[in-house]
Order: sequence, then structure tokens, then C-alpha cells
Amino acid sequence: MLRKKPQWVVGVLVGCSWCIRVGFASCAEDYATFRIPCLQGTPNTFRPGAHSGDRKTMLGLLDEASQTIECCVGVLQGRVFEVGLKVGPYLHRLLHTYPTLAERLATILENNPAAIQYGMFCSPPSCEEETIGPLALQEVLLKRLARFSDEEAALAIPRGPRAGRRGWSNRSGQPKMEQPQELPEMETEVLVKETEVLEMETEVLVKELVSWDEIGVDFVIAGLGRCGTTSLHQSLVSHPNIAFTSPSEDYKIFAEGQSNRFLPTKQTARALQIRSSQRGQPGLLGLRNPAISLYPLSYYTIFLQERMKMILVLCDPLSRIEKQFMWFHYCHPDVEAAEARKDAIPRVLKSRNDCDPSIHALLSSRHSAWLRSQMIHLHLLELIKLFRHERLFVLHRASLNDRKTYSTLAEWLQAPAFPQTWNQMRRVNFRLGHRTDLCHNQTLQVLLKRRLAPEYAAIQFALRWQSRTFQQLAADRELMLHISRCDKEEELVEGPCGLYDLEEQGCPTW
Ligand SMILES: *[C@@H]1O[C@H](CO)[C@@H](O)[C@H](O)[C@H]1NC(C)=O
Ligand SMILES: *[C@@H]1O[C@H](CO)[C@@H](O)[C@H](O)[C@H]1NC(C)=O
Repeated sequence: MLRKKPQWVVGVLVGCSWCIRVGFASCAEDYATFRIPCLQGTPNTFRPGAHSGDRKTMLGLLDEASQTIECCVGVLQGRVFEVGLKVGPYLHRLLHTYPTLAERLATILENNPAAIQYGMFCSPPSCEEETIGPLALQEVLLKRLARFSDEEAALAIPRGPRAGRRGWSNRSGQPKMEQPQELPEMETEVLVKETEVLEMETEVLVKELVSWDEIGVDFVIAGLGRCGTTSLHQSLVSHPNIAFTSPSEDYKIFAEGQSNRFLPTKQTARALQIRSSQRGQPGLLGLRNPAISLYPLSYYTIFLQERMKMILVLCDPLSRIEKQFMWFHYCHPDVEAAEARKDAIPRVLKSRNDCDPSIHALLSSRHSAWLRSQMIHLHLLELIKLFRHERLFVLHRASLNDRKTYSTLAEWLQAPAFPQTWNQMRRVNFRLGHRTDLCHNQTLQVLLKRRLAPEYAAIQFALRWQSRTFQQLAADRELMLHISRCDKEEELVEGPCGLYDLEEQGCPTW
């Protein structure tokens, strides 16, 4: 068996757990005695990232996370960290240094090399992202395995983020450096090359989490994509008391940017606060992210933040799906030109090698999963069930060129009225003319409208729901007759800016 310099290699390993012990001394010391009744169960939460589920499950998990923050930060003045263990690299290392221990741990860890197991931990204020991870994990792993010896405990410490990145914290200014303890004599068979050991990667991922209260967003434009959310954003941002987190779509907090988290990271909250303070303008803060309406975790999160309101812009489902299809699936005769015109999305086209010459393809089973993923009806009905009129406003694109819409919205948002002279309803981010073969073929339109029947029904229902506080007659008519862009001559010809609105000057402003 390979016995090449085992002492030295073990020295590196134990040496590192030594440096964790020393550098992490203050955090560890405080963490060991940080036990308060209201935290029962919380520091031991070590659940896999099962972050999708039905309403009850999701709301329950979100609520649990908020309670943890409230108890840990609000009551105990502690800090909450999300700690993830990279199972593959961790077990791989242990397997080389202490196989029996690795085997025992493998039985309690998800046996998927790519898995990262997450948990939420409450720590004393002395802990940092650099220090808490290994300690919290060690405790969890120790608790799971009965009769763990001290040597095993030392070996079981997962490697945290690179030591010394921000320097070890020695709170009182007292350097707490101790001499390394004598290395325990160990007859471990070391099968790993030294260089491998030296380059061992971080096995722990840590982010500090904060309360949603620190995300000072007052309202979101939550969707739908392709229905005029950009136009609405541009119109609202011209109100003197309304600002947005970003001039474009903001994915940092919700949808993909939420990264399956039940709480926002401190990093995200700080970045938002810095941008807000730079803007220096008091008033309402909006965020536009059309993916929210298709993303249950995000809209459930928003639902639980009572001060956050949600605006949805709806539109004709056929026109909307045609634009999506053009971007994702249509065969453009000249793909490069299409990319330049923004009719095709390069990264999507490069990741696949097929395309469809007709939107007829949407009727085939091949596209049924994609089509389902674009549909809004189930989410829309869920949102209406959850939110009341005070917190959800459903608009139709046909109402975006009506000044009354904006005065109603301002009032609903509890912002001052738009100035008398305000007239900045802009239509942006559109594409005129024929986008696919859809508008050339009426049979195809009828078939696709039939396929989209649940969309029409849900949107009609939503507008009827909204009509209790805000009537949208033009939209009602358009929906009832299933009028699509194919039925609007002015949509199919060039405008003053050709087919596009790319030029800022001289483009249509309704
Ligand atoms: C840590 O200790 C060093 C050495 O005594 C000291 O210079 C430094 O200010 C200390 N750092 C903190 C954060 O207290
Ligand atoms: C119109 O679409 C239908 C259904 O996809 C198809 O059968 C028909 O051939 C199309 N007509 C023309 C003129 O392309």
C-alpha cells in the first residue's frame, strides 16, 4: 500500500483543521454555547434543496425561514447563514483519508456527487461567512453519527472558504494564535497525491441571509413577458416619485436570482441599499422581472411581504406565443441577420440544432412541454386566489395607451397623481410586421387559439376580477373576439422606425 509521506499529508489536513480551530476560535467558542430555546431545531436544519412544492409546502417553508430570522436576528441579535456542503468533494477527500468514516457519512448524505446539501444556521454575532460553515456542518454531522471520537470530529470538518481571504477575525484585537498541537500519530493509508491535497477545493458554501424587510421594494411588475412590461416600466419611471431597482429587467432578487432561497442574501440586500442611496430619491421603488409570474417560489415570497404589491400586464396569448416562438424555435433564413435584429436569441440557437419553418410545429407533441412552460393560466389563477385587489393589479396591454390607467395605478400604488401635463405613455420593445408564418394562415390561427383556450379563459377571468375596481373595455372586446396581432393591419406593416423601435428619435409614442 502507498505509504508515501503519510505524516506530511496528514499534517496538511490536520494542519488545516488546526488553522480552522485557531482562526475560528472566537466563533467556535461562542457557537458552542449559543443555545436558546426558541432556536430548537433551527441550527440542525439540514434539508436538501427541496424548494418546489405545492402552495402549502412553499408558504410553510418560507414562513419557517422568516421565523428563524426573526428569532435569531430579531430576538438574539445573532446572524443567519445558509451553509451548503458539497457532498462529492467532501466525501471524496474523506474516502482517501478515513474510509470508514466516509462510509458512515455517506449513509446520511445524499449520495450524489454533484449535490450540495443546504441548511440554515443561526450563529452568534462573532461568526462570519468564512468561519461558520465548517463549524455548523461539523455539528450537524456529529449529531447524526453516534459516538464520534475527537479525531473523527477533526477529520470530519469540511473545508471552508479559502482561509485568510479577509484575515481571521480576532475580535478583541487580541491575537488568538496558538501553536499547533502535536499531530496525532495516525496510521492512515493516504492514497492521495500531495498536490491534490494542497489544491483541495472549498467544500462549504456560505452566504449570510437577511430578512425580506431589508429588500425595500414596494411593487413588482411581475409579468407577463412580451405583453408590454417594458413599456409600463418606462411610463411609470417617468413619475417623479417612482424609481426602479434597475433600468432593465432585474433578475438579482427574484426568479433565477433568488436561487431557490427562502431568504435574500445580505450581499443582495446591501447592493440594493447602496443603489437606492446613490439614487437619493425618496418615493416608491419598483422592480421589473417578468419571470416572477411563472416562478411560484418568487410569487409566494412576494405574497408574504405584505408591503409589496404586484402588477401584471396581460395580452393576447397568440401574439405573445408567436414572439416567443420566433425567438426560440423559428427557422430564420439568415440567422445572423435575425440575431442582429434581435429576432433570434443567439444563446438559444447555439444550444440546439433544429428549428421549425412554421409555427404549426407548436401543435405537435414535440413542443408541448415548451408550450406548457410558457403558459400562464395556472399561475394567474393562483395569484388571483392569493392576492387581494389592494395588492394585485391586472392590466391588459390594450389599456397601456390610456392615461386613465396611469392615474389609477398611481392612486393604487399610493403615489401622488401624475402631473397634469404628463404624457409619456411610450410603446417600446416591439417588433412590427410578420414575425412567423402565423398571420398568413387563418386556419393555423384558429388551431393555435384552440390550443391556447386555457390562456384565453384565465386572462378573461382575471380581467373580470380586476373590473370590480378598474374596467378595461378595449381589452374586454379584444379578448372576447380573440383579436390577435394578425387582425390588426397596423401591426403587420412598417412603422416610422421600420419594423423596430430601436431608434430613440421619432419612434411612435401612441
Ligand atoms: C488582529 O490582530 C492583529 C495583531 O495583533 C491586529 O493588528 C489586528 O488589528 C487584529 N484585528 C482585529 C479585527 O481585531
Ligand atoms: C395553413 O395551416 C394549416 C394547418 O397548419 C395547414 O394545413 C395549411 O396547409 C396551411 N395553409 C397554407 C396556405 O400554408
